[in-house]
Amino acid sequence: MPRGETSNVADGLENVVAAETVLSKVDGEAGVLVLRGHLLQDIAGRRSFEWLTGLLWQDFVDRPLGGEVLRRDLGLARERAFAQMSDLLPATCRLSPLGAVRMLLAAVPDDAADAPLLLTASVAVGLAAAIRIRDGKPPVAPDPQSTHAADFLRMLKGTPPTPDEAAALDTYLVTAADHGLNASTFTARVAASTQASLTDAVTAALCALKGPLHGGAPGPVLDMLDAIGPAENAEAWLDEAVMRGDRLMGFGHRIYRVQDPRSDVVKAVVERLNRDIGRLHYAEAVEQAALAVLAKRKPNRSLQTNLEFYTALLLEALGLPRDAFTGAFAVARVVGWIAHALEQQAGGRLIRPQSAYIGPMPRG
Ligand code: CMC
Repeated sequence: MPRGETSNVADGLENVVAAETVLSKVDGEAGVLVLRGHLLQDIAGRRSFEWLTGLLWQDFVDRPLGGEVLRRDLGLARERAFAQMSDLLPATCRLSPLGAVRMLLAAVPDDAADAPLLLTASVAVGLAAAIRIRDGKPPVAPDPQSTHAADFLRMLKGTPPTPDEAAALDTYLVTAADHGLNASTFTARVAASTQASLTDAVTAALCALKGPLHGGAPGPVLDMLDAIGPAENAEAWLDEAVMRGDRLMGFGHRIYRVQDPRSDVVKAVVERLNRDIGRLHYAEAVEQAALAVLAKRKPNRSLQTNLEFYTALLLEALGLPRDAFTGAFAVARVVGWIAHALEQQAGGRLIRPQSAYIGPMPRG
């Protein structure tokens, strides 16, 4: 039987409900993201990343989870992570920033004390240190007094961010922290369902995040903006790309049929940061051209702007190098992976679907 013709296979698991969760709900028809009872729009810019982490981990992580306590303990965990990874950091110079984070996460012991905090801290500390080492600079030790967002920027650049920069990254981290059963979160739940460790689940999730169809999109968004050149070229350039079969990075989503609400939040952050208004207007022109091309060439699928388009502009404005963008996504999403992995371990069975065999049968 030819591939794809097996009647009961849900291609890409589209519309398959594979878990119950209290953590987040993605309503793709209404364009709404609910994070444990809160609309994203109501908390983004008002509540900190530490507050949201406490909310997501409540009932799953056995420790005090108030925003201030978590801010302190996450700061201390960054110090611990930095100390524990010090002998491994020199080896990261041979790896991409995300490859370095993958190695550093995998080195967190399976039985680490306070594993949720240590894993969360390790992503931010490891990413910042790996980028500095790659650039020939010494790593910067964490400041446990700082917020997670501000300290990540400080460890990366070597100087403290402005309050606006820290607030902008904090809002991004809140926006990207959890999002239903996306590919990386599903991967975390599959690993956790085997009763593998939290380190295993988070490391597996990071690998699934890396691809350009998921967390790897924002770097290529900027490559696309560079390649298009003047805004008046945009429609022709994008049309040719879609006709070639290319995906336009930062557009389309498996669930959203209307605007991704995360895109609105991140775009507003870019506007508030007010760094390079010409760049923003250029991106808006490209966005409109892309939406027009997608509506014309893919009329059967409502393809809208997703989180990654304006994320690329935000992370660029904050001075992150392009090859750190996927890692920055992981700085946020790791807290969602941890909550989902623990939720899966607490109540879920082994995740073990079936495949439909379409190969040859033995002769005779
Ligand atoms: N550009 C051009 N065509 C597209 C795009 C796009 N960005 N997205 C979907 N399509 C087309 C696709 O070619 C297909 O067309 P046809 O029916 O003619 O073959 C149709 O739309 C359906 O595509 P699909 O592959 O079945 O859709 P999916 O639900 O599997 O894909 C997606 C979701 C996010 C992988 C896809 O929209 C995509 O590749 N987008 C670009 C990469 C990107 O921006 N990723 C970040 C996603 S948001 C962050 C996150 O939460 O992960």
